[in-house]
Amino acid sequence: MITMTKTIFFCLALILSCGNVFGQTASSPMPKIIEKDGRHSLLVDGEPFLMLGGQAHNSSGWPRMMPNVWQAMKLTHANTLEVPIYWEQIEAQRGKFDFSIVDTLLIQARRHHVRLVLLWFATWKNGSNHYMPEWMKLEAAKYPNITGKNGQPVDSPSPNIKATLDADINAFSAVMRYLKKADLQHTVIMVQVENESGSWGSVRDYSAAAQKLFENPVPAELLKPEVLKALNVPTGSEGTWSKVFGDRADEYFQAWSIARFIGQVAAAGKKEYSLPMYVNAALRDPLSNPPATNYESGGPTDNVIPIWKAAAPAIDLVAPDIYLSGSERILKVIELYHRPDNALFVPEAGLIPDNARYLYDVIAHGGIGFSPFGIDDNGRQATETELKEKLAPFAQDYEILSPMMREMAKWSFDGKIKAVVEHEDHADQTIDLGAWQAVISFGTRSGGESFPNKEPHGKMMIVQFGENQFMLIGSLCHVTFHPAGNNTSKVWQYLKVEEGSYHDGLFKPLRILNGDETDWGGPAFGVKPAVLQISLTIR
Ligand code: DGJ
Repeated sequence: MITMTKTIFFCLALILSCGNVFGQTASSPMPKIIEKDGRHSLLVDGEPFLMLGGQAHNSSGWPRMMPNVWQAMKLTHANTLEVPIYWEQIEAQRGKFDFSIVDTLLIQARRHHVRLVLLWFATWKNGSNHYMPEWMKLEAAKYPNITGKNGQPVDSPSPNIKATLDADINAFSAVMRYLKKADLQHTVIMVQVENESGSWGSVRDYSAAAQKLFENPVPAELLKPEVLKALNVPTGSEGTWSKVFGDRADEYFQAWSIARFIGQVAAAGKKEYSLPMYVNAALRDPLSNPPATNYESGGPTDNVIPIWKAAAPAIDLVAPDIYLSGSERILKVIELYHRPDNALFVPEAGLIPDNARYLYDVIAHGGIGFSPFGIDDNGRQATETELKEKLAPFAQDYEILSPMMREMAKWSFDGKIKAVVEHEDHADQTIDLGAWQAVISFGTRSGGESFPNKEPHGKMMIVQFGENQFMLIGSLCHVTFHPAGNNTSKVWQYLKVEEGSYHDGLFKPLRILNGDETDWGGPAFGVKPAVLQISLTIR
């Protein structure tokens, strides 16, 4: 009898461990975003989590493409895969859902010990409707696109159509209902609702039906004093969109309409299964306040964040996709999306060496994650060496940060981290540490000689543990400490400079740096990022 029970137990255990999506470990706490003093943290399994992400190419979320994606994830040292799931794939036939891709992703992500962010490519993908299932595309009159100012057809779905909204809600709710059953262990930690929504080619829908809505009074949610103030409109304003918002009326109407639509999709999904949800933005130039004809209108660009917050409370955060260039512009974007009511998350950064350094600034702003876009070879059969080289600027940081990502997430949430990234002028930058100032100079050093960086790729992050204790992570720069505040003009020296790495919550020294490694103007960081633990003392 005992042997028989044992056999049954063994068989059950075997079935559960053999790649069945329902063979899961016990349920863990829900992922959620928390806020403290205007900073945020994404809790995963109840603890702060830093998403060191990698996003797959648009057409890589298919079972036979996944081996390449996993290879790239390994080379990237990423802990979170952002991967699209497609409406056209999941509801290829109206009302019939196929979740096999969700199962595949869950099983494989668990096997590779990474978390997932699912990207719901549905009504909007980069402003168009291209991921709508065929049965919807064939009923264009029922699920229409917007009409341009001169009556021209525009390749972008109308946000004011109930049939489209109902269809999206129906499909997204089904996805979230399925996920709730299939993912007790919360392999999926966030969901992106749609992708870079908005419209190119027309600031809003000018169809007769949309025009009628546009001539209605602005909804009460947008007339609240705090919302009007954030939009630079006098409080007490009311009336039609044109009357209240003047030359921004068309764009604001489009933003409200899209945010309202996506907010309802997210709310319906959350009713089934309440994971953190976000939307991503195709950015506008944050420095010049251009007209909306210059960018994707109605998406969560920096100027309409207050509209998105009012229209779509089920969306936890709006997130910038970094494809702009120039450090001033990008640092401004990071500043604009880090708000007390908005956790900072960069779900896409172009996979170019220029962008890797912004991870540091995101972490210093209490950001919950960062991800280069398009990490896999996109079916191009790149060699491992080629792929490795492309991923290296991101992978090198992820490699040293992943064993300490829980600590990083906590320090970042607690505001203990400061960072600088090199600008195009390569000028020195200073980090204020109270009793010390750390001056960061960019470049490399060899035998006492300094060499400036050809490209502005240097970066430095300092974690402050106490008045005189710091951890420094950086590359392509060196650091000189200067006594400041109470220490001004005092004589000082390094007590200890250790190079090492973090594992299992502890710093494991590799060596003590001294002599040439600290004497020539302070410790230097080469091309590969390093982790130094430094203590200073006054003599
Ligand atoms: C931003 C989009 O969000 C991505 O899906 C992808 O299309 C990239 N642009 C293009 O490289």
